[in-house]
Amino acid sequence: MRGPHNIWRLARTGATFERTGAMGAVLEAMEAPRAIRIAARVLGWPLKWFGLRGDPSMPPVPRALQALGPAYIKFGQILSTRPDVVGPEMALELQVLQDKLPPFPTTDARRVVAEELGQPLEAVFSDFSEPVAAASIAQVHRATLKESGRDVAVKILRPGIDRAFRKDVDAFHLMATLIETLSPSSRRLRPRDVIDHFEGVVLQELDLRIEASAAGEFFANTEADEGFVVPKVEWGMSSRRMMVLGWADGLPLSDLDAINAAGHDKVGLARTALQMFLRHALRDGYFHADMHQGNLKVAPNGDLVALDFGIMGRLDEYTRRVYAEILMGFIRKDYRRVAEVHFEAGYVPADRDVAEFAQALRSVGEPIFGMEASKISMGRLLAFLFEVTERFGMETRTELILLQRTMVVVEGVGRSLDPDLNIWAAARPVVEEYIARNIGPQAVARDLWRTALVLSRFGPRLPQLAEAALIAQAHPERPKRENRWPERVLLGGGGLALGLAAALIWAAF
Ligand SMILES: Nc1ncnc2c1ncn2[C@@H]1O[C@H](COP(=O)(O)OP(=O)(O)O)[C@@H](O)[C@H]1O
Ligand SMILES: [Mg+2]
Repeated sequence: MRGPHNIWRLARTGATFERTGAMGAVLEAMEAPRAIRIAARVLGWPLKWFGLRGDPSMPPVPRALQALGPAYIKFGQILSTRPDVVGPEMALELQVLQDKLPPFPTTDARRVVAEELGQPLEAVFSDFSEPVAAASIAQVHRATLKESGRDVAVKILRPGIDRAFRKDVDAFHLMATLIETLSPSSRRLRPRDVIDHFEGVVLQELDLRIEASAAGEFFANTEADEGFVVPKVEWGMSSRRMMVLGWADGLPLSDLDAINAAGHDKVGLARTALQMFLRHALRDGYFHADMHQGNLKVAPNGDLVALDFGIMGRLDEYTRRVYAEILMGFIRKDYRRVAEVHFEAGYVPADRDVAEFAQALRSVGEPIFGMEASKISMGRLLAFLFEVTERFGMETRTELILLQRTMVVVEGVGRSLDPDLNIWAAARPVVEEYIARNIGPQAVARDLWRTALVLSRFGPRLPQLAEAALIAQAHPERPKRENRWPERVLLGGGGLALGLAAALIWAAF
């Protein structure tokens, strides 16, 4: 969708940035050359009255984005998770952006439901409420299933939101290209990559099947977690524009008065929230990455309910092991060990000095651990850790920033319920349990077993490969193949597997 409307959007964006005072901050962040700054101000100034005014009580950049509408708000929210791009201060400033909009009419929602179901709404639902919540991309209704009488939450995409977002995203692409062309110094911030990242995230949110599958995976992972509940997806009724989940009764975690009145165990809930988050990140490598009060409820029986699976985080197994060791190192204040883990994992280049790195880690850890237990924040510790590792040449990864950001949010939720929450004491058993299971003899045996399984798939080909290797050795004059790794790996692996089998038999007796 290239075309003149992009120019208009561009002009309106520029004018709004000028009018709200955000232009200066943005040019600053991009380190734009002087000539461009002056040109932007001179051209922008007379145009600024075409720009939107926004809410003067907000800081300039969030104010401009909020005024420009949903795609810009989403963009700001995503940038708030990228301090590597916008810097830590701006990331914090952008967190004030609230994704709340007036709901669209229930008649439109009912129409979408009927279209998605392929039959009249009344054939499936005996009751369908007014919207209970509305945001830029979707809104939620409560409904009752006709057949079973069960209550469900029906999340429905805003009609026309696809097109609206795509248009704005097109204009974003044009802006990024222009910025990179006019201000080469801005390339450091990779504007085009940032827009690609944004587009990827938003396109996912515009398909509710992605959220439904996230809910399904999270449900399966956490089914046995006592005290923690994820509503079940109704796959049969979920589609691109509509997601149906079991209705979760309870009080939102933001309503502390109601929670007090109901007499819930707030100290226990705070612990559960923190421990569950850590357990999911470490045990499953799949965590809820938007755990603010609005997305959590307390069920009447005191269980913690998680809602809204639009933003989830993933950590691969290797990263989880490394981070569990790092956290344990901090819990034990063994900075040398924390430093070594970074080197062993190859996160920090081998030519840096371990002792110096350990010293820098101590400078991060000690002031934090010197605080009262109820003030210590693991999320802040991780943020400082990333600063130090970056100084020592490690690239910060988005999934780790997401983990750190969520940790800060979860700690905030925890402390709102229990101001004396000791994060380390609550985290320790989860980290220890993970380490006991995943680092040490049990884990070594499991890794070897998996290796043996992989190698066993080559089993039928082993004799042939061994023979080929032997023939090649007996006749060195024959032309050699370049790539001899398959044989080497198999022979080595075969030996390893035999050794493992022997060890297992030995252990069994
Ligand atoms: N399964 C559910 N049971 C009960 N209420 C729900 C359920 N799903 C959503 N809601 C309500 O709708 C609100 C918005 O849903 P959410 O999935 O968080 O949407 P958004 O992505 O727009 O934030 C929630 O804060 C909650 O009050
Ligand atoms: Mg939500």
